Amino acid sequence: MKFDVLKSRKKQTIASAIMLFMISTMLLDSCVHDPFLDGDTLNGGEPTTPGCTNGGQVCFESSILPIFISSCARSGCHDATTREEGYVLDSYNNIVRKGISPGNASGSKLYKVLFETGEDQMPPDAPLSQAQKDSIKLWINQGAKNTVDCACYCDASLFAYNTAIKPILENACVGCHKTGSLGGNINLVGYANVKVQVNNGNLMGSIKHATGFVPMPQGSKLPDCDITKIQNWVDAGAPNN
Ligand code: HEC
Repeated sequence: MKFDVLKSRKKQTIASAIMLFMISTMLLDSCVHDPFLDGDTLNGGEPTTPGCTNGGQVCFESSILPIFISSCARSGCHDATTREEGYVLDSYNNIVRKGISPGNASGSKLYKVLFETGEDQMPPDAPLSQAQKDSIKLWINQGAKNTVDCACYCDASLFAYNTAIKPILENACVGCHKTGSLGGNINLVGYANVKVQVNNGNLMGSIKHATGFVPMPQGSKLPDCDITKIQNWVDAGAPNN
């Protein structure tokens, strides 16, 4: 009898392990296609795919601010020093101050400009991804709120380079660390370039805001779970997987 119970427990464990595996494969997949939150991924206000939200609202702090900081608030563009065309795009108050009509993305200059072409294209070097544009649109249409302290759906045990690490860097870092815009002369596009910053210790030092390193991303900090993911990946030897 005792043996039977044990046996069925074992079966249950195996069944849950298989379920967990299937769920994590699905999540991994959803992460590849859409690392940003959109309306469809919110379920009763809780995120159901990787990302952060607060009471059903797109998370300004984790999903929107990093886009503005890495793609707009760069030196020579819309940082506090350059203030190109009077726009400083480095904090919530500065971003909503002008060019955003809460609730009306298509009437917001800061959204419309993402679709300009030629000289007026913003950012000038490369347009934002569709997922980034969609996140900004949804955030404005939800009222352009300063959503902080968000609930994040994040599984730190999923830390493959291509599906987990690269999307974090693309969202929060590469705007300032790519050819044509090399902050600190550091390139974070492509595995080989990222690996250089892993090996010299600068990547972890900067994102953990450790003493002796320049804190990154400039003016903010990645969510804890993202830092843990990157740390897990580095601890595993930072494979190109
Ligand atoms: C708004 C632009 C901007 C963003 C966003 C940004 N960086 Fe930087 N980064 C810079 C600049 C500029 C420097 C050079 C700073 C200096 O030398 O004072 C730099 C320096 C660094 C350094 C060298 C740090 C050191 O102590 O020498 C690393 C590593 C780095 N960034 C990684 C990142 C990572 C990882 C992210 C994303 C999580 C990121 N950066 C986001 C602009 C940016």
